[in-house]
Amino acid sequence: MVDLSTEIAGVKFKNPIVVASATPTMNAKGMKKGIDGGAGAVIAKSLFGESGKLGRQFPRPRFKLIDYREYPGYPEKLPHSFTLRSLEECSSFDYETYMKDINKAKDLIGDSGIVIASLSGATMDEWLTMVKMVNETKADWVELNNSCPFAADMGICMGAGAVDMTYQFVKACKEVIKKPFSVKITPQTNDPVKIAKQVEQAGANAVNMSARLSGLSLDIETAKPTPFGAIGGWGGPYLLGYGLKMVGQAAKELKIPIIAGLGTWEWQDIIRYIMMGATLVQSGAGIMMQGYKISGKWQEQMSAWMEAKGYKSINDIRGLALPNMVKTAEVPRKPTNIAMVIDTAKCTRCGVCLRSCFYDAITLTKAGAVVNPKACDVCGMCSEVCPSYAPHLINK
Ligand SMILES: Cc1cc2nc3c(=O)[nH]c(=O)nc-3n(C[C@H](O)[C@H](O)[C@H](O)COP(=O)(O)O)c2cc1C
Ligand code: SF4
Ligand code: SF4
Repeated sequence: MVDLSTEIAGVKFKNPIVVASATPTMNAKGMKKGIDGGAGAVIAKSLFGESGKLGRQFPRPRFKLIDYREYPGYPEKLPHSFTLRSLEECSSFDYETYMKDINKAKDLIGDSGIVIASLSGATMDEWLTMVKMVNETKADWVELNNSCPFAADMGICMGAGAVDMTYQFVKACKEVIKKPFSVKITPQTNDPVKIAKQVEQAGANAVNMSARLSGLSLDIETAKPTPFGAIGGWGGPYLLGYGLKMVGQAAKELKIPIIAGLGTWEWQDIIRYIMMGATLVQSGAGIMMQGYKISGKWQEQMSAWMEAKGYKSINDIRGLALPNMVKTAEVPRKPTNIAMVIDTAKCTRCGVCLRSCFYDAITLTKAGAVVNPKACDVCGMCSEVCPSYAPHLINK
């Protein structure tokens, strides 16, 4: 039996899966469904301070999926890379209703999962007011969310627009907070790891590096940014690589636990994040598109894989990949002992590789495509584009 549990600051998570702060956790009922679906914890949708209360009302409709339904085999098969565009800033609750809802969530969930309240202030006064209120709730944990991708475009000094304030407000909140807490930071800065270190120095129990980017889509017929005219959240599984990079880099420098999860789409992504050093892994779009119960399925799949591999607990895999992550300058250059060849038995002579070979190294013969080893750079593009998997590397 694999042990998926983990503990941070005395709080025990039955497994590392966390339902991210988003629509699925907008109220106590949703949070309960998140835990019933198999997650170890839920992060409530963020409460914005009074200066961000415009965000308590959403544009409708507010979701747009790019490159989703067009996937062959949909809806039985789902794409691994798509964009979820949305404009949904914060909880629609005011301060008091939010605190009541957190209590209701904890009453419903009890010991079966961890309830995390999420706060986003724009001024020190807002941060401290909200922290003091949440101290009096039944929340197991608090997240200080300074990650909103578009708050700055709403004219409030928050999230991606308030990166410089991180240390100050975390330090100030640390003085009054009575519960374990994490700080969620934005990837929209040139050095998220630097900000994560400030979070650590200011005394947080964990850092959440799972926030997404903002973006814009454009309809060329009307010359209008769609669907809202403004920028919005721009996320989805395509961001997994960005998340893994941030988490890996941070894990090499931080001592506090990392909450990861940008782009989590399948159980393997949870393993990936943990191997990169994460302690908890959250999912937003993954749960929004696959439903609450996907957490339970991920948990079973992870356990089965870990059992088969002989891993007994999450601790056995945490950070396993870190020693294998090297600096760009350490990547071996120009290996001379390999060559690209094409298996003509598999080649259908479709010509796809020719248009992507910028070294003019491929000739289409009657027998199939052939690589000229003198011209070939072994760049690897032909083997990536070939629909028949005909090109492959050999050792010389
Ligand atoms: C519709 C939607 C609403 C969100 N609302 C919040 C929020 O209120 N607070 C917050 O911290 N993050 C919010 N997020 C960000 C998610 O918590 C999560 O960090 C992000 O979506 C990245 O994870 P994913 O790639 O699994 O979606 C929201 C995301 C989406 C898609
Ligand atoms: S490996 Fe690169 S250079 Fe060589 S044949 Fe393929 S695409 Fe051309
Ligand atoms: S892409 Fe593949 S199948 Fe098509 S010509 Fe090139 S090697 Fe042959």
